[in-house]
Amino acid sequence: MAGGGAPSDASGSGSLAASLREAARRFGTPAYVTSVAALEAAAAELRDAFPDPWLRAFSLKANDVPAIVARLGELGLGANVVSAGEWAAARRAGIPDDRVTLEGIGKTASDLRAAVRAAAEGRPLRWVAVESAAELEALAALAGRAELGAGRGAWGSGGGRPALDVLLRLNPDVAPETQAGLAVGRGSSKFGMTETELTAAAAAIPEGSPLHLLGIHLHVGSQLGAVDAWRDAVRRGLALLALIGAGREGFDTFDVGGGFPVGEPGTVPSPARFARELPALLDGLPADRRPARLAVEPGRFLVARAGWLVGTVLHVRERAGAERVVVLDTGMTELIRPALYGARHRVAALTSLGLPRELPLPGKPAIGADLAPARVDGPVCESTDTFDRHDLPPLRRGDLVAIADAGAYAASMSMTYNGRPRPPQVLLEPDGRLVLGRRRGRA
Ligand SMILES: Cc1ncc(COP(=O)(O)O)c(C=O)c1O
Repeated sequence: MAGGGAPSDASGSGSLAASLREAARRFGTPAYVTSVAALEAAAAELRDAFPDPWLRAFSLKANDVPAIVARLGELGLGANVVSAGEWAAARRAGIPDDRVTLEGIGKTASDLRAAVRAAAEGRPLRWVAVESAAELEALAALAGRAELGAGRGAWGSGGGRPALDVLLRLNPDVAPETQAGLAVGRGSSKFGMTETELTAAAAAIPEGSPLHLLGIHLHVGSQLGAVDAWRDAVRRGLALLALIGAGREGFDTFDVGGGFPVGEPGTVPSPARFARELPALLDGLPADRRPARLAVEPGRFLVARAGWLVGTVLHVRERAGAERVVVLDTGMTELIRPALYGARHRVAALTSLGLPRELPLPGKPAIGADLAPARVDGPVCESTDTFDRHDLPPLRRGDLVAIADAGAYAASMSMTYNGRPRPPQVLLEPDGRLVLGRRRGRA
């Protein structure tokens, strides 16, 4: 991922660098610091691209810290979760169950049971998106045993009064413009059903059963560098929705997943650019076969740029004939993306030899006569624990650095390897206040 992030917070109360230094002083390092103003800006941009009545849910896999999820909930986002664990985090964040969607390839029997139980107790999830015919069968069996049907699904129509609404996940079989590890919409990926499998799965659930088949879910991939695969996938999904919906009452909902990228301004398509593809795709369908309900479920776009990982320099190795190596107190345990799939995150100094530094402007390389390349490594006993090379000023033990775009797939992917406690989550409020959202060591 390219670097990014704003040079200063919208608070107008001093520089972002000063706030990050203050967070380090008060809460120690490593620490995740998230700008609430940046969360608000991302949520507003998403809403402008996909306005009501689009359903907008935040995908908790990108960041499952309840303090962050709660802020997004206040900004009108529902929650998209992949397990009972993430669902619990959404609940702790105050997101009501009827704004929660459950999807994911790894749902266990107990996850499915929890969804059925919630429906039976009259607080159904917005929907469950199933990955395979076998999962659908298992869910139907649980729903049958729980005698669902007495209540109502969040979107279920009258008549048989189904109590649990279900989307079927389509594998769109496209070529997503992203790195291989994130290209989940490829035909060879483990996610979703083929068109044939999905059609057969739908046919196996009779209308009026305790499960109400509501529509189709898909996700093309993460950090999409262009809109073409997404357009292909949406076209396929809409065509299948129309086909199945022609013979099935209430099969009228389409969830296009997430995948909106972050990067330097102008280098990646915005949510609005994706949204611009939709009118032509919808116009391609007969008016009575267009979806009644549309949904997006982005993760990264909402949180990535808002988050910074603040660390402290532990060692600087400057040896004749060798590159400068800076070892931080934070690394793959707090931000695994570089080690996992070679993601690049900008690293900038917050202090140099103890003196404060400002952060470089977004999209601009750091400028300074005293900058020189350094390899920035983490503290973990693995040689893959590195943030790669960056131009940095002179550094010594105790200097502070900030790692950009650490709001997505950082805290939620963090681990305690080497006995390292999870970092605190600090919120930088729009008025400049720093608020502790989660203490160090809390899961
Ligand atoms: C089904 C689904 N929805 C949403 C997302 C969120 O993706 P992103 O963070 O790229 O928006 C993912 C990510 O893997 C996903 O698998």
